[in-house]
Amino acid sequence: MHKDIKEILISKQEIDSIVSDIAAKIDKDYADKDMLMVGLLKGSICFMADLMKTMKLDSKIDFVVASSYADGTESTGTVNIVKDVSQSVEGKDILIVEDIIDSGNTLDFMVKYFKAKKAKSVKIATLLDKPDRRKVKIDVDYVGRIIPDEFVVGYGLDYAEDYRTLPYIGILKESVYS
Ligand code: IMP
Ligand code: MG
Repeated sequence: MHKDIKEILISKQEIDSIVSDIAAKIDKDYADKDMLMVGLLKGSICFMADLMKTMKLDSKIDFVVASSYADGTESTGTVNIVKDVSQSVEGKDILIVEDIIDSGNTLDFMVKYFKAKKAKSVKIATLLDKPDRRKVKIDVDYVGRIIPDEFVVGYGLDYAEDYRTLPYIGILKESVYS
């Protein structure tokens, strides 16, 4: 285990089983849809890659870079699109793939953004959800795991750009950021 990790919250094996469950649901729900998976970079990279390989359906994929965090552990509340999708979302069934929902600001913004661009439907798949910290109500369609109010890293999730390459989700030691 990495020296800055207090505890492994979700092991690699548990992540695999979460991904399989969500992939099966997506296969069922999107069978006759015009699907476009949109990963929110960079945090969703591992989840998106595993999900798109595990599901049986074919889907177009794209990515958005939306930023609401500086280098801290709190959302600033203002969301900016740093990099947009590179294709039209009009008439598409969008599945936003996210690493974790915290305040909800990022997804609230992204759902409204794609709806304004005339997507046919917009759903959300998130690996993790921290509902205790929600500031805006979000309808989430696929949730991997509800977790307590702890700052977690690994499997794509970072703290100040570190720890993304860890193969598990771990709770970061408070001494690292306080
Ligand atoms: P929200 O807009 O507050 O819901 O924040 C969502 C984004 O904040 C996620 O996509 C993550 O990039 C980041 N985030 C929130 N909580 C954590 C965490 O515990 N670890 C790492 N990143 C987090
Ligand atoms: Mg993110």
